[in-house]
Amino acid sequence: MTGSRLLGSGSALPSRVVTNAELAAQIDTSDEWIVERTGIRQRYIAGDGETTASLAIAAARAALDDAGLAASDIDLIVLATATPDNTFPATATKVQHALGCNGCIAFDVAAVCSGFLYALTTADSLLKTGMGTRALVIGAETFSRILDWEDRTTCVLFGDGAGAVILEAPSQDGAAGADLPGVLASRLHADGANHDLLYVDGGPSTTQTVGHLRMKGREVFRHAVVNLANVLNEVIEDAGISADDIDWIVPHQANARILDATAKKLGIAPEKVVVTVDQHANTSAASVPLAYDVARRDGRIKAGDLVMFEAMGGGFTWGASLVRI
Ligand code: ACO
Repeated sequence: MTGSRLLGSGSALPSRVVTNAELAAQIDTSDEWIVERTGIRQRYIAGDGETTASLAIAAARAALDDAGLAASDIDLIVLATATPDNTFPATATKVQHALGCNGCIAFDVAAVCSGFLYALTTADSLLKTGMGTRALVIGAETFSRILDWEDRTTCVLFGDGAGAVILEAPSQDGAAGADLPGVLASRLHADGANHDLLYVDGGPSTTQTVGHLRMKGREVFRHAVVNLANVLNEVIEDAGISADDIDWIVPHQANARILDATAKKLGIAPEKVVVTVDQHANTSAASVPLAYDVARRDGRIKAGDLVMFEAMGGGFTWGASLVRI
């Protein structure tokens, strides 16, 4: 059975852009260092009144418009975030209420930067088992609120934003095949052994504070390239395609060098990789749907294209999904 189909997408960014030069005026860094090591040139930072929920709501509305659907058409909201508005309730319930589809299933998933892959796969699985017809899958973050702005090794790397897609349950006629639109294959992984390489040093049950992001960047980089290449190969094999068949890779936007190294390992041309890290920096769970929405709206990704989504994040968690648009 082919998986759920992607019907539309939307995204939202805070109004304030912060350039590398602006950061260099506040901490000991430079535009040259940031661009050379990461490819990042600017990021969007949430201001007063902008939260993970407000960005998610704007992205969800844009996705509904894009698909020509009303909020009442949604049966399920899965929102990936590591920076919820509150410890509870789930930010997804705030989004649901703002959209006006009260009563449908709504919950958050926490898988940090691979959160969107976890959310997409969860929603696809629930739709396939008949829990609803259409799902809103959202990645939304305000990482600026958990950064230590005095730690130059992390604060230059992240930004805020949200992206959303709408998934529709596969038709029940049993039709299947790599040429039909829908999720063709997905794989998810986690390995808690590497907690200390990328984590937040606070939380309700440990410090009763929100805490700050801590990362051993060089070691994360090494794990990312290996884990991503492995999971991409698994999905390629599951779907019975070859790497050459992929039209676009829409990766988690952490670092331009990770994107290059992963594409090279798979023998995929760099022109097939959607890159937005220069504009958005690392927006964690938001980065994949944000990049997808940018590439759809600028005409690169079209109906019929074979698109690979992939991400790796804190936990570690990582995953990939292959989708025929
Ligand atoms: N400006 C200037 N110098 C800096 C900065 C900065 N912002 N940050 C670190 N440096 C210095 C360091 O202090 C160090 O100086 P030293 O040699 O005098 O000690 C030097 O630059 C090199 O530091 P490294 O950490 O070794 O630099 P590296 O080449 O590894 O680049 C980076 C660091 C960009 C973080 C890289 O390791 C990376 O991208 N790692 C992957 C991180 C990542 O992708 N995380 C996200 C994945 S999961 C998720 O998205 C949550």
